[in-house]
Amino acid sequence: MKNKKNKSCLTTIPVFIATFLIAFSANVLAENKPEPIKVGVMLPFSGVYAGLGESIRNGLKLALQEKGNKASGREIQLVEVDTEAKPARASELTLGLVNNDKSDFVIGPVHSGVAMGMINTIRNKDSIMIIPNAGANAATGAFCQPNVFRTSFSSWQTAYPMGKEAVDMGYKKIVTLSWNYGFGKESLAAFEESFVAAGGEVVKKILVPFPKTEFQSYLTQIASIKPDAVFVFFAGGGAVKFVKDYATMGLKGNIPLLGSGFLTEGTTTAQGKAAEGILTTLHYADTIDNPKNKKFRADYSAKFNKSADLFAVQGYDAGQLIIQAVEALKGNTEDKAALIEKMEQLEIDSPRGKFSFSKAHNPIQTIYLRKVVNGQNTVVKESVTNLEDPARGCKL
Ligand code: PHB
Repeated sequence: MKNKKNKSCLTTIPVFIATFLIAFSANVLAENKPEPIKVGVMLPFSGVYAGLGESIRNGLKLALQEKGNKASGREIQLVEVDTEAKPARASELTLGLVNNDKSDFVIGPVHSGVAMGMINTIRNKDSIMIIPNAGANAATGAFCQPNVFRTSFSSWQTAYPMGKEAVDMGYKKIVTLSWNYGFGKESLAAFEESFVAAGGEVVKKILVPFPKTEFQSYLTQIASIKPDAVFVFFAGGGAVKFVKDYATMGLKGNIPLLGSGFLTEGTTTAQGKAAEGILTTLHYADTIDNPKNKKFRADYSAKFNKSADLFAVQGYDAGQLIIQAVEALKGNTEDKAALIEKMEQLEIDSPRGKFSFSKAHNPIQTIYLRKVVNGQNTVVKESVTNLEDPARGCKL
């Protein structure tokens, strides 16, 4: 009996020590493990822009995965929230990501109205916002902020070049049409700016409530006006419906349809034949001939089982921007001013071609004239090389 007791005592002590040592070293390891980098992701995962949100998230994930989900040894943690493309929710969701989740970066949104709410909330805060889509001119114009960057475009950049292209194609009288909210109105204004300067006339401007997709009555009006061409902004599910309705109502082939590139971006499979031949301007095209784009498109299709689009490129570049900046600072994200200064200096090797940031933190980038051929947005030519947004009202 006595012996048995001693024996069990002898075995218990080493087990106890071993357990203690394991727990101790796990603690030491945990203490040495660097803090993760927190990235809030505010995108529409439901509603008319859900497809855009998904592409941006996929592109972001691809960029992070290429680097093993780490920058300078720090794990990158994503916290995702659905904006539903509703401006009214922007402030509350941003505050949650900044104050509760302590995000170093907040990536978002798609919708310009949501972007303005986010910027108002994030100014003077310790998080850096990276806009992977929303084009509101003011984001890198009158409302520009040191801690707000954009990897996408301004409204002006994507529509301005088409005005001159339209006149060069011989179109003098045009009807313009878009959803009635910030980005749409700014796109029409930018188109009109260069179109009128080149001698064109906008004979009618039509604004459709967002996110309405009943277009028949507007198309009937256009058919009776018989302009030389039509210029529009629609995107996502709205773009699919508009392009199909345009063909169904017999306008395709009779009145040329032009747009900023969102009209045929990520939508051509659903639009089918109705999209063929549509000309648009944008800072990306499927057929851009550089090794980065080819690899990006191949990797994206392999991972997500569908074709990449511009939205995926913008998400991918937001990921690249974070990784490059954090790595350049050897993982130190505490000093936000140093982080911002580093981001300002970076050149991003994007599938769209290399770009750097303007003083207002918007990409300086080439805008392409594109044509839909066999479901692909193909490059017709460079419409404007290295176009910089005028950043009207920005004091940075
Ligand atoms: C915007 O609201 O800024 C916006 C939305 C969808 C697009 C482009 C811009 O495709």
